[in-house]
Amino acid sequence: MTLLDVLARERFLPLAVVGHAAEAPALVDEIAAAGHGLVEIALRTDAAVEAIAGVGGRTDVLVGAGTVTTTEQVDAVVDAGARFVVTPGFRADVVARCLDRGVDVLPGVATPGEVMAAVAVGLSTVKLFPAAVLGGPAMVDALAGPFPDVRVVPSGGITPDLVPVYLERPTVLAVSGSWRRP
Ligand code: 3PG
Repeated sequence: MTLLDVLARERFLPLAVVGHAAEAPALVDEIAAAGHGLVEIALRTDAAVEAIAGVGGRTDVLVGAGTVTTTEQVDAVVDAGARFVVTPGFRADVVARCLDRGVDVLPGVATPGEVMAAVAVGLSTVKLFPAAVLGGPAMVDALAGPFPDVRVVPSGGITPDLVPVYLERPTVLAVSGSWRRP
């Protein structure tokens, strides 16, 4: 099952920051027990790649890597078993490396120009980051004018009360947010 299939079904992408690789199996158990079929482990700690290696083979939860910003990181996380890659911003070389390596990629965008860059390399779904700072649901509506066929996954500062407000918008595929906020 692809990332987009799971996102369409679940409409939520949990993002996890793992301090120690040994924590990852229990964390993924917790996410699975909560009914989720995917998790993004963010490359925001030194433990992230080893954490992905420890849980990337799971069949009940699709494990991906987030906060990926370079082609070298794409190689590292795919070698570790990541099934998808999420980036905070748009880089064509990072997207190309993901496609070369055969993993789904959800690149971050924050401007219409970045949406156009994503469409130009053949993508039709992007992460909108940082969604709250960009204007929240109003930014989703603004982008839907010129880009009605581009699906967005807003992330960054999404509070529980706003989740349904985002999800009722036709271009929103899913929302993403930290699994456990610090
Ligand atoms: C991301 O990278 O998508 C965000 O850091 C998640 O945002 P949140 O921590 O505000 O949910």
